[in-house]
Amino acid sequence: MSIYLDYAATAPIREDVLASYLQSLRVVGNPSSIHGDGRGTRMLLEDARDSIASAVHCDRNEVIFTSGGTESDNLAIKGLYWQRNQDARRPLVVSAYTEHHGVIDPIEWLEKNEAAEVIWLPVSESGVIDLDALAEVLRARGPEIALISLMWTNNETGVITDINKVCELAAGFGVPVHSDAVAALGHVPVDFAGSGLTAMSITGHKVGSPIGSGALILSRSSKIESLIHGGGQERGLRSGTMNYAGATAFARAAVQAVSELEAFASHTSVLIAGLKAAVAEIEGSRFSVGSAHCMPQTAHFTFDGLRSDTLLYLLDEQGFAVSAGSACQAGVARPSHVLIAMGRSQAEASACLRVTIGLGTTAAEIDAFARALGPAVERARAASAV
Ligand SMILES: Cc1ncc(COP(=O)(O)O)c(C=O)c1O
Repeated sequence: MSIYLDYAATAPIREDVLASYLQSLRVVGNPSSIHGDGRGTRMLLEDARDSIASAVHCDRNEVIFTSGGTESDNLAIKGLYWQRNQDARRPLVVSAYTEHHGVIDPIEWLEKNEAAEVIWLPVSESGVIDLDALAEVLRARGPEIALISLMWTNNETGVITDINKVCELAAGFGVPVHSDAVAALGHVPVDFAGSGLTAMSITGHKVGSPIGSGALILSRSSKIESLIHGGGQERGLRSGTMNYAGATAFARAAVQAVSELEAFASHTSVLIAGLKAAVAEIEGSRFSVGSAHCMPQTAHFTFDGLRSDTLLYLLDEQGFAVSAGSACQAGVARPSHVLIAMGRSQAEASACLRVTIGLGTTAAEIDAFARALGPAVERARAASAV
């Protein structure tokens, strides 16, 4: 059994969520069917909608169930862009290159295929989005902006963006804001209604439900174009038979994660503080985001003179599951685009380590990891030098 310190990649499924998921998988009925079995699964789905709405503070009609964060990001970004740029007068999309690829890639797709113009906002070396630059873009180009998309918290570095401030700035120009809150849900308070957002992406597998269920929260007053056409389910925005078992599990996990927020913050911040102190003893190491305001369960480090993939293999060999936080596609580790956006060199962006933990992580696990890390860094440096 490995010591799992990669909760941001996907969190372990909660035991009671698994039990209730299995139970709802055994219930038959298409939620759109008229018969009693269909009405039964429809009830499960609608209960899940109520629970998600209470967990993120939105109206139940604003919850559109999807397959997860990536789909929600695509639906929000393309849907808002198509809706707002129908007359080709609002071709501008504003975002930052520290976003997850679930946001960056649909924006780049719009740029390539739909003549979108994109402004990537500057980011400080601690990973904080420059909101003065956003205010300036709004002043200069407000009427041309189709949407702003900025994540609530960064999944690699843990840095928190002041989303309320983003929405306040955008509201002055009537520009809708989408936020990828996939990494935020269950880790920091998320209040859709209080934020002023138009759209927000969330997913279940980061809070302890099975992979494959998420939601786009879309304000009632907003109209967007759909990506998927068919039976017209989910306000006509996400056709396809609704995954009531997945939605039920997602809702149960989300409600629990939100109710545990305080305990989560105090437990994880103590462990992360201990880990940071241990890493500070390793020569040539740095906490990647300085004193930026961060989520409590995330620690992102940079080490001089090594390659993260070598370090990850060495740690894996010893039973520690951690990540570099960088995109790893088809088994090829690449420098972190997030660190590059923060102004780091390719070498620095290829020499990092992300540790993300949860309520299930113990002090003994962090101690064991901290003891193993120093020697692993030395070996990774030696291997990277040859
Ligand atoms: C910030 C962020 N956005 C989007 C996603 C994609 O979510 P999903 O895996 O549910 O498609 C992830 C998952 O790693 C993420 O961390």
